[in-house]
Amino acid sequence: MPSVKLLAIESSCDETSASILVDGKILSNIVYTQTIHEQYGGVVPESASRLHIRHILPVIEEAFKQSGVSKNELTAIAYTQSPGLIGSLLVGSSFAKSFAQALHIPTIAVNHMQAHVLANLINEKKPNFPFLCLTVSGGHTQIVKCTAPLEMEILGETIDDAAGEAFDKAAKMLGLPYPGGPLVDKYAKLGNPKAFTFAKPNIPDFNFSFSGVKTSILYFLQKEKANNPAFIEENLNDLCASIQHTIISILMKKLNEAAKQTGIRDICIAGGVSANSGLRNAIEEYGKKYRWNYYIPDFQYCTDNAGMIAITGYYKFLAGEFSDNFETASARSHF
Ligand code: KG4
Ligand code: ZN
Repeated sequence: MPSVKLLAIESSCDETSASILVDGKILSNIVYTQTIHEQYGGVVPESASRLHIRHILPVIEEAFKQSGVSKNELTAIAYTQSPGLIGSLLVGSSFAKSFAQALHIPTIAVNHMQAHVLANLINEKKPNFPFLCLTVSGGHTQIVKCTAPLEMEILGETIDDAAGEAFDKAAKMLGLPYPGGPLVDKYAKLGNPKAFTFAKPNIPDFNFSFSGVKTSILYFLQKEKANNPAFIEENLNDLCASIQHTIISILMKKLNEAAKQTGIRDICIAGGVSANSGLRNAIEEYGKKYRWNYYIPDFQYCTDNAGMIAITGYYKFLAGEFSDNFETASARSHF
């Protein structure tokens, strides 16, 4: 079979990213992170779309340069179709479709959440099927059962906030800039995870809830600040460590229940929050204790990146799952 050479584009939120894959191997993964949103405490969709327009071409050019592959060698272009901010998605998908039409090659539409899970197939050491994946990002929190690269079933998910959102909102209450997750992680390393306790929800099945945790942190901080206005500054490390510990124990409890009930021992994590050092340590600890084969993507493949779109695009290419714009384009060429 001739070589499969893919360009993949990710632009669902505030990262503009491009990757080149050849026969299942990622040769480049360029990520431009928009920092303008820090000052607004969250992603501003209009600014995100405009920044994607500005950065998409240089990011793609750099991906080609680092891989040594040229545009005329490409066999297909994969892009993030959904979920995401519509203006941001449109920049990546429109670019992918136009470029593909010009090169007379097909496009492959990729689901962003499926791609987070399949980031675990990038490494040499891959999980065996079926595996469970705890997918934790800024917009989603899911336990997914994956029986084949493109066959996934959501066993449970959040009924309100996502885990990344819980990190970011708690960070905001502590006066930290957006996105606060990585900063909570940084300060948590210096604090005591048992210093403070926060409410943990009791949700049935494999579903999650983080809104009660958020409220519990808010009321606690309001009470403490009334007694001591410098409470947060004086206890920042312990607060971050305790908040992180609470979120991670909620995640790990459900993941462990899912592993027990399904009998599946190959366990993965994915999504932006899988970059969290506490969660990475917890997976290792549980893995040793319950004899899981555990897998953690490299840092660059945890937060939004085109490498995960490329690996998903690769499996879709092998399965012949192209998006219909190519059929439309080739059908038109007969007239
Ligand atoms: O997967 P991702 O890059 O984007 C979405 O698809 O949402 O995830 C972003 C989320 C943000 O909420 C961010 O705060 C969180 O992942 N995050 C972290 C860490 N790195 C990123 N949360 C905790 N600890 C980290 N080290
Ligand atoms: Zn994501």
